[in-house]
Amino acid sequence: MNKLIKSIAISSMASMISFSAIAGDEKPYQVVDGSISANAMEGWKTYNGGGCGTCHGKGGIGAVGPNLGQSVTQKLSKDDFFNIVTNGKSGTMMRPHKTNKRVMDNLENLYAYLVARGDDVLGPGNLIKMPLGK
Ligand code: HEC
Repeated sequence: MNKLIKSIAISSMASMISFSAIAGDEKPYQVVDGSISANAMEGWKTYNGGGCGTCHGKGGIGAVGPNLGQSVTQKLSKDDFFNIVTNGKSGTMMRPHKTNKRVMDNLENLYAYLVARGDDVLGPGNLIKMPLGK
């Protein structure tokens, strides 16, 4: 390998490594031109369609069940979140949702929405009327 090719190969490896470090810190949602990304919007729809608000309040603010924005930003890992929503918490009102196809298909989106709520990027409001729901 000549010297030039070698140094290109090394520098592109280095940039791949630093890229993956940045990717690890990325938020699961993005704000683009003052609007929340589509995945978080889908998560909001799933949150409402999945009936989570009955127990966790509007926008996950907390009611019978805990504040979910706080849970996903301060307490639970993403895997914990997926596991609890899928399998529920036995002995509590938090039932398994594994037979709810809409919820199962949208776990990533639900997570993105709730992290945005916990980060206070989104208010609990209607995301269709107000893209950031503040
Ligand atoms: C019938 C009421 C009810 C519904 C509906 C419900 N939950 Fe829960 N959920 C609870 C309760 C109560 C807890 C607290 C359980 C405990 O005592 O640890 C809980 C706990 C959780 C937790 C763990 C929070 C933490 O900090 O440990 C997550 C995550 C969660 N729910 C997500 C959801 C999602 C997402 C939905 C909708 C798909 C949903 N829940 C629907 C009642 C409900």
